[in-house]
Amino acid sequence: MSQYPQWYYNEFKQTGVDYTDSEEVQAYDLRMHKLRDIESESKWLREILKIKDTDLLLEIGTGTGELALKLSAYCRKVVAIDVSKKMIDFAKMKAESQNKANIQFYNAGFLTFENYDEPFDVIVTQLALHHLPDYWKMMALRRIYGMLKEGGKFYLRDVVFPSPIQDYDSYFNNIITDLKKSAGDKIAEETEIHIREEFSTLDWIMEGLLKNAGFCIEAVKCDGFIVGYLCKK
Ligand SMILES: C[S@@+](CC[C@H](N)C(=O)[O-])C[C@H]1O[C@@H](n2cnc3c(N)ncnc32)[C@H](O)[C@@H]1O
Repeated sequence: MSQYPQWYYNEFKQTGVDYTDSEEVQAYDLRMHKLRDIESESKWLREILKIKDTDLLLEIGTGTGELALKLSAYCRKVVAIDVSKKMIDFAKMKAESQNKANIQFYNAGFLTFENYDEPFDVIVTQLALHHLPDYWKMMALRRIYGMLKEGGKFYLRDVVFPSPIQDYDSYFNNIITDLKKSAGDKIAEETEIHIREEFSTLDWIMEGLLKNAGFCIEAVKCDGFIVGYLCKK
């Protein structure tokens, strides 16, 4: 971070859940295997993003690398980045154990990754952009736009709060109560941390940020407060 001005956001400093903690990294991987079907997620992304075997793809906030590993089967090369070195080391280990040769991992983030290669055909980020406050989300989205080829696709999936809601207190209390029953105490506790300390924003702000960065939003898919935006440059 030393080459950045004093006012620049330090994206390596963890906010909310600490993904630089080795135990958390392992636990996150296990939880995601239980809760999600990443194989189906990757097949669905391949379809809607029309990923081709000649494509160069970037995943930002790759976490334990599960999606990057799956997507690497469909394209020429995946570049996967994350600000947590522990996450990147874990993902690298997985790639090596699966003999995946077409993935490169970097310890960098939305605001610091520099692409010295050709522009990307596809950029994907899931459940990571909310780690940045809104102004820095905007900067991140502009950087993503700049790293894409003309006509390139961008898929953003993240926690985005709906509007208008008359009573946000009841809305969040109900979410936590339901999560305790459906997903357990740990996920409910992480969601409390998320709402309190991380920077998930409202739907109208997110759409404004995407459009302002230059993207055309082609489709929006809401699954409760998890929202996916399919965008084109
Ligand atoms: C909730 S995890 C999501 C991981 C993975 N994308 C998934 O869907 O399971 C959030 C990840 O974003 C990473 N992250 C946080 N801030 C970031 C930033 N500014 N740039 C890139 N990654 C970031 C964290 O280190 C963590 O690995």
